[in-house]
Amino acid sequence: MACQILPVDPESPDPEIIADAARVLQKGGLVAFPTETVYGLGANAFNVSAVGKVFAAKDRPARNPLIVHVAGLHGAKELVGAWPALAQTLAQHFWPGPLTLVLPKAARVPDLVTANGPTVAVRVPAHPVALALLRAGQMPLAAPSANRSTELSPTRAEHVLATLADRIDLLLDAGPTKGGLESTVLDLTTDPPRLLRPGLVTVAELEALIGLLQRGTSTAAEPPRSPGQMQRHYAPRTPLEVTGQSRRRVEELCGCGLRVGWLTHLPERDTLVMKIVLPGEAVGYAAQLYAALHQLDGAGLDRIVVEAPPSGDAWLAVHDRLRRASDRLEGITDEG
Ligand code: TXA
Ligand code: MG
Repeated sequence: MACQILPVDPESPDPEIIADAARVLQKGGLVAFPTETVYGLGANAFNVSAVGKVFAAKDRPARNPLIVHVAGLHGAKELVGAWPALAQTLAQHFWPGPLTLVLPKAARVPDLVTANGPTVAVRVPAHPVALALLRAGQMPLAAPSANRSTELSPTRAEHVLATLADRIDLLLDAGPTKGGLESTVLDLTTDPPRLLRPGLVTVAELEALIGLLQRGTSTAAEPPRSPGQMQRHYAPRTPLEVTGQSRRRVEELCGCGLRVGWLTHLPERDTLVMKIVLPGEAVGYAAQLYAALHQLDGAGLDRIVVEAPPSGDAWLAVHDRLRRASDRLEGITDEG
């Protein structure tokens, strides 16, 4: 399958291009599209064979459920078996935006979408292209990140094409996504609600609105409620380590003759290795993290060394992704 690539204006997408993409979806095809977090790989959530193609394209295990994207609250309510007051409060405050709510599923949502589970994850994305596509298509879109399972999520069109070009029908290229990390996933079927995946909406923002959350992943005795909590995930192919002593580690590995890439937020002196310096604040760091890792991963290195980012709640999602991407980790202390 050859993927068609349609460039589209990120702020005011051409309705004819959007209509083309909507037709592909209506016929059961796969369309990669930008959201405010990362690029998604969309299929009509009500079309089981189309959803099956999403799992196949990503090599995604069938036990890992998909997020369903809708254009607004009305669309979300059609997918769930219950819409608690808390969902209304959160949706009104954070949608469109990078918050995914897990709620009891309605019978009409195919079991394939929810991995046979009793709940469905829904969100309204904040990207004009995603919203235009959802409105034109008149259907909810099951859309995981547009990457092979467990690999780095795509924040640019070329990241999507690098591994999915021969597996999808169409890519809407709207340039780099702004947020750079995935949405926050919040389970509203527990009391208090439980953070399943830290993301661009911070715990502080959520707790300011609805009070304390349950945090932390499930214990060993309890199966993961969200398979995105799987240990190795969001990972480049190059072995990656995180350390609070990255300069020393880079020098040590170079001394052993390894080709090393260095990712840091500190203003380091020049070195001979390939080095990328990210912003020292969490939002800017998150926005550029995946693009930096894609770049280092494409450079034919033996090892990527990452300076441990600062501590604090604002960094929770960054810490979570680095923890899952790494083979060796020190200098990040908050619980996973
Ligand atoms: O920002 C995002 O959320 C992006 C864009 C494309 O919207 N999507 C995304 O999808 O990151 P994906 O499939 O890569 O990650 C979805 C996460 C996974 O960790 C999955 O296990 C979890 O959400 N999830 C989906 N449905 C769930 C459910 N019913 N219960 C618990 N976790 C669920
Ligand atoms: Mg993903």
